[in-house]
Amino acid sequence: MKEIINVAIDGPAGAGKSTVARAAAKTLGYIYVDTGALYRAVGLNALRNGIATDDAEAVGATLGSITVELKFENGEQQVLLNGENVSSEIRTPDASMAASNVSAIPAVRAFLFDLQRDIAAKNDCIMDGRDIGTVVLPDAQVKIFLTASPEIRARRRYDELIEKGQQVEFKDVLDDLIKRDYNDSHREVAPLRPAEDGVIVDTSGLNLEESINKVIEVIEEKTK
Ligand code: DC
Repeated sequence: MKEIINVAIDGPAGAGKSTVARAAAKTLGYIYVDTGALYRAVGLNALRNGIATDDAEAVGATLGSITVELKFENGEQQVLLNGENVSSEIRTPDASMAASNVSAIPAVRAFLFDLQRDIAAKNDCIMDGRDIGTVVLPDAQVKIFLTASPEIRARRRYDELIEKGQQVEFKDVLDDLIKRDYNDSHREVAPLRPAEDGVIVDTSGLNLEESINKVIEVIEEKTK
């Protein structure tokens, strides 16, 4: 049987992980798994129910009665919360902050762990997140830490939100991003950090095409 290939791509918000990972997966014929969407779905559920997203006990209590699933339509990931497709609704700035808060709760990470492992066990995939190379898939054949300066990441995120028609200020996007970086890398469970055997790719000076090519190059080198 052919060996299943798992590629872990971790890094801070706005480093271009999802765009780069999606494009690289398409070129290589792998599925692309965006694990941030799972935390966003749990965060959205809390928001919808008026639960403080940093209240570990209250958020933890919701986990027994919700379902979070991923399905793939024409290779595109869709996230289902209690059977409802929430793939668009999880992309607002409020859902981003909610995701960052709930992702610091150990019970939430445990709740989403098996789902991520099961997908990776069955599919050649590029999985992006914060702890994929360090915690979820420590045996992945390829581990990449994709990063860029905060200003560049905020600019990219800002352009993306404006393009989607959302009304945001650059300063708010930058402040949010710095706050999320801090949250994500200082939490006690699975903090954001490069895997010891990971390759760091800094995209600050690279355009999108160069970033995608660099990542494909690293994957091909590690899997040949
Ligand atoms: O990648 P993203 O912006 O969609 O992620 C949303 C939040 O979820 C982010 O603040 C960190 C968290 N997250 C995480 O803790 N672990 C992951 N594997 C993916 C995301």
